[in-house]
Amino acid sequence: MNKLAVNKILKELVEKYGTPLLVMDLEVIKENYKRLIRNVNNCKVYYAVKANSHIEIVKTLNELGSHFDVASKGEIEKLLSLGVSPEKMSFGNTIKKSSDIKFAFENGIKMFAVDSEMEIEKIAFNAPGSDIYVRISTNGMENDADWPLTRKFGTSVDHAIQLVKYAHDLGLNPIGVSFHVGSQNYNPNNWRVAIREVSVVFEEARRLGIEMKVVNTGGGMPIKYSKNIPTVEEIAEVINQSIKDYLGEDITVIVEPGRSMVGNAGALVSGVILKSKKGEENWLYTDAGVFHGLTETIQNIRYEMSVIGKENENKQKFVLAGPTCDSVDVMYYDAELPESTTIDDLIVFYNTGAYTTEYGTNFNGIPSPKVIFENGLLVEKPEEYIFEKISKEQYMI
Ligand SMILES: Cc1ncc(COP(=O)(O)O)c(C=O)c1O
Repeated sequence: MNKLAVNKILKELVEKYGTPLLVMDLEVIKENYKRLIRNVNNCKVYYAVKANSHIEIVKTLNELGSHFDVASKGEIEKLLSLGVSPEKMSFGNTIKKSSDIKFAFENGIKMFAVDSEMEIEKIAFNAPGSDIYVRISTNGMENDADWPLTRKFGTSVDHAIQLVKYAHDLGLNPIGVSFHVGSQNYNPNNWRVAIREVSVVFEEARRLGIEMKVVNTGGGMPIKYSKNIPTVEEIAEVINQSIKDYLGEDITVIVEPGRSMVGNAGALVSGVILKSKKGEENWLYTDAGVFHGLTETIQNIRYEMSVIGKENENKQKFVLAGPTCDSVDVMYYDAELPESTTIDDLIVFYNTGAYTTEYGTNFNGIPSPKVIFENGLLVEKPEEYIFEKISKEQYMI
């Protein structure tokens, strides 16, 4: 459906439900899941629940056969209550409370991520004999990702090898290595670099008599915001080829999509509640903001926007801010929006299904966007995908 038609329906939905409103489309999520399975060889999808834990999304993915990457007791409880089997969950957060590890283990979860000695000790004590995978950091990829994860998570290859041995010595079962190239990563080559590093850990582990067969390639696949992106097919080809080149046969590939599973399945509509002029600056204030769904705007995420009914108007720069009493609550200082945008206009932020309502707070007593489902609304025909074809030379190292 084209943008004008989508906007027309969004307007009708807002008349019914009010703003701010996140409209999600389960058909898009189903297609994202199938596309990944079709393209990454030997792959198991562990949906990163943190991106959007809405129960309808979890239920849909569970029915399709998805596994789940969980980050806390809260997420585990939610999934268990929806009938998700604990064998389908991996506790992928490298920073877990001991009591959460115990809870997970007692409820049947057997797979945990680690990147430090103490985390291994916590798991050995609270979840004895469990499977673990060691997360390596992906240094040097910061500039290719809008949301880098390098510094806080993962460790060096050398340290990872020590951790594999330590976990083994403490009676745990090291099954593999994980990495995350950074969320919204534009460069497929980064997956290849990381898989090559995984192979070094595998080799050293084999020397120690520990056979590892799982590579967890994390998330990081991008969705279309304002810049062009490589396709799932292109990234999958790099992953498949790199595994063949560096790891060989019989490898299970875990993919943990968050953003790329649900991001393009959502559109957030927010109403303009004030317009003002401060010196040379034109300000627009909306009823969604940094604390209410648009948190990622304060790092590098540039959502595509339009104003319903003013799609073809000339644009000018506005400062676009949220409704709260905090000066951090400014989405963009250089938003390009139709010149006549004013009170009661509806601004649509596209591709906002991931990391929006999940980050939402109740700050200032203002509720986060309501979520509704309108299936089929946001489905794009394949020819509408925007590709920036990358050449093979770019990712061969
Ligand atoms: C362990 C882990 N896996 C997967 C993801 C999902 O990443 P993305 O949203 O980039 O797909 C994250 C996100 O932070 C993560 O921490």
